[in-house]
Amino acid sequence: MKRRDFIIKSSLAGMALVALPKIYSQDSKITKLQVGNPLRFPPELQEGESLKFNSANVEVWPGTTTQVLALNNSYPGPTIRVQKGDDFSVLFENQFTEEATIHWHGLLVPELMDGQPKDAVQAGSNYTYSFPIIQRAGTYFYHSHAHHLTAKHVYKGYAGFFIIEDDDELQYGLPTGAYDIPLLIQDRHSVYQPQFNYAPNMMDRMLGYLGDIPLVNGTPDAFFDVQKTLYRFRIVNGSNARVYNFGFSDNSQFWIIGTDGGLKDEAVPVSNVFLSPGERIEILYDFSPIDIGNSVSLQSQAFSGIGNQGTLMDILRFDIAGDSSSGGVVPQNLLPIDYYDINDKTGTRTFTLSQAMMGTGMHRINGLTYDMNRIDEVIPFNELEEWKFINSTNNYHPMHVHGVLFQIYSRNGNTTLASNDKGWKDTVLVKPNETVQALVKFIDYSGTYLLHCHNLEHEDDGMMLNIKIDTPTNIEDENTSPNNFELYQNYPNPFNPSTTIKFKLTNAGFATLTIFSLLGTKIETIFAGNKSSGSHSITYTNKSLASGTYIYELKVNGYALRKKMILLK
Ligand code: C2O
Ligand code: CU
Ligand code: CU
Repeated sequence: MKRRDFIIKSSLAGMALVALPKIYSQDSKITKLQVGNPLRFPPELQEGESLKFNSANVEVWPGTTTQVLALNNSYPGPTIRVQKGDDFSVLFENQFTEEATIHWHGLLVPELMDGQPKDAVQAGSNYTYSFPIIQRAGTYFYHSHAHHLTAKHVYKGYAGFFIIEDDDELQYGLPTGAYDIPLLIQDRHSVYQPQFNYAPNMMDRMLGYLGDIPLVNGTPDAFFDVQKTLYRFRIVNGSNARVYNFGFSDNSQFWIIGTDGGLKDEAVPVSNVFLSPGERIEILYDFSPIDIGNSVSLQSQAFSGIGNQGTLMDILRFDIAGDSSSGGVVPQNLLPIDYYDINDKTGTRTFTLSQAMMGTGMHRINGLTYDMNRIDEVIPFNELEEWKFINSTNNYHPMHVHGVLFQIYSRNGNTTLASNDKGWKDTVLVKPNETVQALVKFIDYSGTYLLHCHNLEHEDDGMMLNIKIDTPTNIEDENTSPNNFELYQNYPNPFNPSTTIKFKLTNAGFATLTIFSLLGTKIETIFAGNKSSGSHSITYTNKSLASGTYIYELKVNGYALRKKMILLK
C-alpha cells in the first residue's frame, strides 16, 4: 500500500498552472488583441500550511482592489491537491469576526470533519480538520457553511478547489499537467464593481443572487492561451445560484469524462451541458482544428429560465497560441462504475421541494425549514434507497447531499439519462416541476449529515434538512455511556497491515477488544483479559481482510465503546 502523508506534490500541474500565461505569451508569435485578463490560478496549499480565514483586499479588476473574504488572502482559496489514501489534515484559523467552517463538498469525511453549521468555528478560534482520503479521484471543492452566512461568505470569495488524484486515472492517457485545467465559475454583480457586495433583495432571495459578470478562477474578462491540442478542464460551478448551460461559441463538440464524483465510465461527446451550483463536470476539448491566432470561447448558452437565469454569457476566451501537443487522448472507456439496481432498494424516501410566502423560510423541503437541533430523517446504513425529489415550484433546485455519492435513476420517469447525470453525483439539478429519482446508499460514515438546496440563498433561507445516518445495524446498541473508560482513534488510520489502538480504564476490569465488519459481523477478538487501571495500547495486524471500513469495539464489564478504522491496501 502507498500510504502517503498529506504531501502537496510539486506536480507538473501545480507548477505549470501558475506559470502558464507567461510561458505561452512569450512563445506566441502572434500579436493578438490583448483584450481582457489572463486566466488566474490560485496557489496550491503547501504541506503544513494552515488556512486562515479573514477579509483581504485583492486585485480582481486590474488597477483596483476588491474586499473579499478569503483563505490565506487568496481568492479563490488555495487549491488543495491530494492523493487517494493520504491522511489529510489542516489547521483552520478563523481570524474573521464571524463564525465559519470549511465544508469539503463531495468529500466523504466523518461528521465532525464535515464543516456543518452546527460545528461552526467561532471568530478567533481554530479547528483542525483531518480525515483520510478514501474516495475516487475527482474534482471537489470547499467552501464556508456557516449558519445563515454560507451565501455571503461564498459570494465574497470563500471557495477553492480540492482535487483528489489516484493511480487509476493514469491508465487512460488523459491530458495532464499544463493541459489539465481547473475552472471555478462564479458570477458577480456589475452594479457593485469592483466590490462583492452581498445585498440580496426580496426577489434575489426568491430566485437566488444572480450576477451578470462571470469570473473564472476570480478573473473577469478572462482569456487563456492554449495550444492546438487536447485539454482536460475540471469545471466547478461555485456560483450562489446561477445555472450554466456550457458550450463553445462555435457550437463545437466536447467530451464529458467526469461528474461530481470523478471519472465516468465512458467519454461522451456533447455540444452543451447544464451545470448547477455545487456540481462539477470534467470535459475534454480539442483545440487542434482551430488556427493559431484565432479564438473560441466557453459560453453559457441561452436557455429559458426564470428571472435572469439562462442569459447568454461569454465566460472564458481561449486564444490559440501555439501547436505543442498535450499527448492526451480521448479514451473509449474510462473507469468502470457499478450501477445500482433499483430492484435492490430497501425503501423510498420522498423530498418535496416547495415555496411558501415571502419572508423567511420561503424555500422548504417536505414543508420544513432547517432546524439545526432537529433530525429530519433517519437513514439506515449500507442500504440502498430510492430518493424522490419532487419540485413543485417553478424554480431550479440543485439538491445536494453530504456524506455520500449517489446515482441518478430517472428524470420525470425517464431512465435514459443525459451524460452529466450518469456517474457518481453529490448534487443534482431538479428543474422546475420535475421529479428526479436517485439511488442513495451511505456506506462510509454514520452520523448527522445534510441534505439541502445548493442555491445558496435557498440554503441560507432554510432549504436544508438534517439527515442522520444510523449506526450500522446488527451491532447491539451501547446500553449506557460508560464514563469510566475511554477508547481512542487508532493510529495510523487508514492502516496496512498494522495499527495501534489505545484505551484507558479508570478502574481495573475485564476488557475485550473485538473487530467487526460494518454490518456487525464479528471478525476477530484481538484481546480478552484483565487489564489494570490506566492507559493501554494494543497493536492490531491484519493481512487477509479486504480494504474497507471496520469497527473496533472495547467492552469492559458489559459496557461497550466503538470506533471505526480504515484498512487501505
Ligand atoms: Cu457545497 Cu452543504 O454544501
Ligand atoms: Cu457538501
Ligand atoms: Cu433551491
